[in-house]
Amino acid sequence: MKKIAVIISLLSFYAGYSSWVYTYGTSCSIAMTEEAKQGKLLWQINNCQSCHQLYGLGGYMGPDLTLVTTTKRGGEKYTRGMLLNGGARMPNFHFTGGEADAIIAYLSYVGNTAITITK
Ligand code: HEC
Repeated sequence: MKKIAVIISLLSFYAGYSSWVYTYGTSCSIAMTEEAKQGKLLWQINNCQSCHQLYGLGGYMGPDLTLVTTTKRGGEKYTRGMLLNGGARMPNFHFTGGEADAIIAYLSYVGNTAITITK
């Protein structure tokens, strides 16, 4: 009888802890704008993730872009230049100005939702 009580209490702790872990902190107070959603789509269609990381996840040929628009080293102007012209190894995707703006809006959303100690 004692064993069953221990098992039941362990299972209920496990269930409670699991539901807390899977629901805590998953909501985000920053909404993604329509432009940023468009940028996310362009990010996915062009498979930027194969070479770049966001939030530390992705390919390793290019740099992590989580903070590229939100820190001084990068910034929106710099990012725009890279998107419109490509780089030594970064392909030129021939984006229009509007498409570049949308990708910048998406990368800014990513930068503003990232939890980091280096900001
Ligand atoms: C084939 C790999 C590859 C793909 C695909 C790729 N990139 Fe890059 N990207 C690079 C590399 C490598 C660099 C570093 C600069 C260089 O060597 O040209 C870079 C640099 C950048 C930079 C400047 C980052 C910095 O910190 O200097 C931005 C912004 C960028 N890429 C955005 C994108 C976006 C947006 C896409 C998708 C539309 C994309 N890249 C797709 C390889 C890639």
